[in-house]
Amino acid sequence: MSEGAILLLGATSDIGGEIAERICAGRRVVCAMREPERDGRGASVEKRLLAAGAQRVTTLDFDAADLESHRPLVERAMEEGEVTTAIVAFGILGDQELAEREEQEAVRIGTVDYLAQMSMLTVLADVMRRGEIYAFSSIAGWRARRANYVYGSTKAGLDAFCQGLADRLHGTDLHLITARPGFVIGSMTTGMKPAPLSVTPDVVADAVVDAAARGKSTTVWIPRSLAALAFVMRLVPRPIWRHMPR
Ligand SMILES: NC(=O)c1ccc[n+]([C@@H]2O[C@H](COP(=O)([O-])OP(=O)(O)OC[C@H]3O[C@@H](n4cnc5c(N)ncnc54)[C@H](OP(=O)(O)O)[C@@H]3O)[C@@H](O)[C@H]2O)c1
Repeated sequence: MSEGAILLLGATSDIGGEIAERICAGRRVVCAMREPERDGRGASVEKRLLAAGAQRVTTLDFDAADLESHRPLVERAMEEGEVTTAIVAFGILGDQELAEREEQEAVRIGTVDYLAQMSMLTVLADVMRRGEIYAFSSIAGWRARRANYVYGSTKAGLDAFCQGLADRLHGTDLHLITARPGFVIGSMTTGMKPAPLSVTPDVVADAVVDAAARGKSTTVWIPRSLAALAFVMRLVPRPIWRHMPR
């Protein structure tokens, strides 16, 4: 069976770009992103993927916060043939301090990092017949931290959603790869002090692409040693936990 197309959602994502670059050789890629014309950023994603061997790259305007647009966008990506890899790479860290004072910021983070993820994953799982979907949880969702509980709560919800969706897909030819990275040094964390066990986007991409090659749904801690830290995190008493940095 020939390999189908790749749908990269949030095409300027550091992690999403690294994944697409690794798997795009000989395949059609549909890049869905906000404002592809701005500063030629759509063109530069296209150039990068063509250089990595993509057969053809097209770009679609996509705002994840516009939930109604999700199904038509996926259908459009499928017009020229089956999509067999979807990378749900859009996401925002948001402004935690602002979100503590202004509910609009909390809702903005919740919309992009939870509602839009749920919505898009539901559409993809409904429409795709085979292949894999990459979704991005985070250590931030493992145990909510005072310092970033708004973002963390969306990742907790998304992670739970992904565990259930993986079970729903069990026995089918469509697999869900749920990534649980720790701190990733890149655009999202610019200006922040790297946390212990930090990785770079290429490390995340290597880990999830390897996991997908095993041909079944799975959840991947990145780096792997983060699983041990996560175990300890749940044991820390709340009076101490409350003071943890983000
Ligand atoms: N970086 C980390 O430390 C880290 C750790 C754990 C998990 N993760 C998760 O991994 C995923 C990818 O992160 P990353 O490090 O690759 O982040 P990134 O480089 O900042 O990329 C995030 C992407 O999301 C896009 N985006 C944001 N809001 C959007 C919207 N409303 N509609 C469409 N696209 C939108 C951004 O596009 P614009 O350029 O238009 O803003 C950007 O392309 C995210 O879910 C993130 O939460 C990241």
